Amino acid sequence: MIVLISSTKEYSVPVSGIQYFIDIREVGIPFLPGDLFGDKRDVFLEIGFGRGEFLENLATTFPNSGFLGVEMSLTSVRKLLDRISRTGIENVRVILADASFLIRHVFSSSTFAGIYMNFPCPWPKRKHARHRLSREMFINGVARVLTPGGFFQVTTDSQNFLEEVVTSLSESACFSKALIERNPGPAIGTKYEKKWKAEQRDIFRMTVSKVLPPKNCETLRSDEMPHTKIPSSAFSPSLLHKVTTEPVSKEQFTIIYKSIYTCTDKNEYLVDTVTNENGFEQRFFIKLVEGPEELLIKLFSSGLPFRTEAVKASVMELALLIRDHSINGFK
Ligand SMILES: C[S@@+](CC[C@H](N)C(=O)[O-])C[C@H]1O[C@@H](n2cnc3c(N)ncnc32)[C@H](O)[C@@H]1O
Repeated sequence: MIVLISSTKEYSVPVSGIQYFIDIREVGIPFLPGDLFGDKRDVFLEIGFGRGEFLENLATTFPNSGFLGVEMSLTSVRKLLDRISRTGIENVRVILADASFLIRHVFSSSTFAGIYMNFPCPWPKRKHARHRLSREMFINGVARVLTPGGFFQVTTDSQNFLEEVVTSLSESACFSKALIERNPGPAIGTKYEKKWKAEQRDIFRMTVSKVLPPKNCETLRSDEMPHTKIPSSAFSPSLLHKVTTEPVSKEQFTIIYKSIYTCTDKNEYLVDTVTNENGFEQRFFIKLVEGPEELLIKLFSSGLPFRTEAVKASVMELALLIRDHSINGFK
């Protein structure tokens, strides 16, 4: 999946003066959501808010707490922003991104008093080791960003999904024993709750609280801008199309160089690049600038991705590929 991120300007809200939309590219890492509200209130996160009924409801009911919603759907984000900017509600903020990445690498540790997930799209089947790893990383991320004693609550119509969540939570050892309720009240009022209730399906709600922080779960270091240089003598533009032929596969990630563009300045090129790290996909450009002595290879500053291991590696691997093709080409 691709993280779609739009300009904050689109969502500026002059009426209340509140910037509801948080452009995740512009925040420092680690990102402390508490700072969004300018005081020391408890902050709660909803992952995948859909139409946002639940988030809005909570925020209205608890005006002294802060509520952050993270959604991957641009349409959902736009609709909620339209609504909250009209109501002038003060304690909601919205991010357009893949929440699993943010909880793993972007939010600061011990930050949310509670995390809600209502009717999430069930995650991939348990058989695949790669999916198992991404589930573990997700759960680790939840444990990392919750405050001590903070809760994680999942509401779903899928008993199988719930069992998998409970298994992963108990394996992590960071959480209390899961409390599971069947058809709990009161209603949360979301589209999917209404849909499944109309079909007479059972609804399950699971709640755990954090008892221990996880091991080995760190935020990204966002200060590093990967770049490298190779001698210009090892480069010829005709070599470039060769890097688009095969993906670079490593244990933790895959890199695909999709296509090459020549800039209007003829000594510059853009390489359209996709990285995938345990399902977290980013698409961005790498820029090549050919000087008399050296070829500079760096991230293109427009639409910057998170500087993950795969993104950093994509710059270095590109340099290696160009060098290898150059050596082979001269044989
Ligand atoms: C089945 S809908 C449920 C929406 C809403 N919570 C409800 O109860 O009606 C799941 C939502 O989760 C969002 N979603 C799925 N994976 C996500 C992720 N990794 N980060 C953020 N949102 C995600 C989807 O875009 C979708 O809106």
